[in-house]
Amino acid sequence: MLVGFGSYLPERIVTNDELSERLETSDEWIRGRTGIRQRHIVGDGETAVSMASRAAQRALDFAGIDPLEVDAVIVATSTPDQVFPATAVRVLHDLGIPNGFGFDVAAACSGFIYALSSADAFIRAGNAKCVVVIGSEVYSRILDWSDRGTAVLFGDGAGAVVIRASDDPGERGILATHLHADGATGDILYIDGAIGLPEQSGHLRMNGREVFRHAVGKLTSAVDEALQSAGLSYNDVSWLVPHQANIRIIEGVARKLQLPMERVVVTVDRHANTSAASIPLALDEAVRDGRIKQGDLVLMEALGGGLTWGSALVRL
Ligand code: ACO
Repeated sequence: MLVGFGSYLPERIVTNDELSERLETSDEWIRGRTGIRQRHIVGDGETAVSMASRAAQRALDFAGIDPLEVDAVIVATSTPDQVFPATAVRVLHDLGIPNGFGFDVAAACSGFIYALSSADAFIRAGNAKCVVVIGSEVYSRILDWSDRGTAVLFGDGAGAVVIRASDDPGERGILATHLHADGATGDILYIDGAIGLPEQSGHLRMNGREVFRHAVGKLTSAVDEALQSAGLSYNDVSWLVPHQANIRIIEGVARKLQLPMERVVVTVDRHANTSAASIPLALDEAVRDGRIKQGDLVLMEALGGGLTWGSALVRL
């Protein structure tokens, strides 16, 4: 069961107008093509680890769970502070979790769905009773700030959920997760670099049109799978909490599902695309402002570099 929610956004906000002072772009272009108005960008001392720890602490506080009860931390990130130790292991230390295990998941923007699915598997196998799942990203670090095609799309932030095994597994909890990957599409969205390869830039590169072309179809079939495997239909869904890449992709999926936008949680206008952090950030916002309530059926979906994509269906 998902019992805790938390998030963290850096204080510093960068508006589209501010970006258009540095790049040949405009608020009108960015809003019209993506729905993005602004993004949060890390300040001094803010990192994937620090944001993950803040979001996770808030999620534990929400759930009223002591660090001693946590068995594992899984962090989805493509922008870890270090290759190792894993972000998750640093977070275990920050939160004072003495007996847990932890590791990072690299599945780009689908990372949170992959991490949630992994946590569910550990719990179902009896290997953990309480898992903190986090998405934490510092994309501002890997953007080519001279490339207007990508620099305007992303933001920084972290979100977390706490998942606990239920003594009475019934209607509530993670009902289904479905994961996919296709390496043949690896060159339409990737990071140009790796440690020890100094001739590469370490920047994100993207063919936006190609990503867009794959997105709506793959996401729609991933949510179809989730609903079918749980024996449910679109009409049963209380809320769609999609990965927040672009309002046009979000609206495209909602249209295919015949879900009115009033039942879709949207944060892309204020957060931009925070990759693996976007779904838990949106979940936290909608739970805390009272939109998403206990008993609601929540459908999540994401697609990202790899390509990777997937869905998760949860009864809160
Ligand atoms: N400001 C002004 N003009 C721009 C900008 C900008 N920031 N960026 C690109 N342009 C220009 C291009 O140079 C091009 O100009 P030209 O016609 O003179 O050559 C024109 O706008 C059209 O460029 P396209 O790339 O074809 O624009 P498109 O309509 O495809 O929109 C966008 C680009 C918004 C990136 C779109 O392709 C998209 O949303 N793709 C999905 C990608 C995405 O969401 N990626 C996030 C990571 S993956 C994920 O999270 C799902």
